[in-house]
Amino acid sequence: MIIAVSGTPGVGKTTVAKLLAKKLGYDYVDLREFALKHGVGEMKGEELEIEIDELAYHVEKDLRDKNVVLDGHLSHLMPVDQVIILRAHPKLIGERLKERGYSKGKIAENVEAELVDVCLLEAIDENENIIEIDTTDKSPEEIVSEILDLLNRGIKRRIGIVDWTKFYDEILPYLKLGGDDEWA
Ligand SMILES: Nc1ncnc2c1ncn2[C@@H]1O[C@H](COP(=O)(O)OP(=O)(O)OP(=O)(O)O)[C@@H](O)[C@H]1O
Ligand SMILES: [Mg+2]
Repeated sequence: MIIAVSGTPGVGKTTVAKLLAKKLGYDYVDLREFALKHGVGEMKGEELEIEIDELAYHVEKDLRDKNVVLDGHLSHLMPVDQVIILRAHPKLIGERLKERGYSKGKIAENVEAELVDVCLLEAIDENENIIEIDTTDKSPEEIVSEILDLLNRGIKRRIGIVDWTKFYDEILPYLKLGGDDEWA
């Protein structure tokens, strides 16, 4: 069984995927490293540009018969049995990416992606089995317990649990609005 852990950059995928793999006794696979190992994708400056179909082919071929937790922001586009989409208050995403020293433009792009459910919508296009988890104010242990509890109860689909637009006022300062030059 392949379980994908996906979500907006900084949402906690790696933290949760490693702990989930440990609790389940599954192998942990970093999708970016997996892609590099298979020679999928090209470095464009600092970013790795990945051919999705080619990566999906390797996931199918190499991981299909294994018990794996697949970590990465493209993992929800792979041929997996279960997708977990981690969600977090966009303000939290903004603060975490600010700590990493991301540019304002890059922070805005990712805060907006979280606000408008980009990963979830992409996942819905590809897979039936999608569980969304709101990670806001929860410890990694609590998040993993919530995932395991749902899986143990045979729940494979649980979506539409967050609506960040309720917090628009708190999110606005992180967004790129209008054509201000400050936003490079
Ligand atoms: N549940 C949590 N509570 C508090 N802090 C967390 C939680 N999960 C992750 N973090 C912290 O948030 C930061 C980002 O976490 P992590 O690296 O796991 O995210 P990611 O989704 O894998 O990021 P990327 O998309 O860049 O790979 C780290 O500093 C991590 O320690
Ligand atoms: Mg990560």
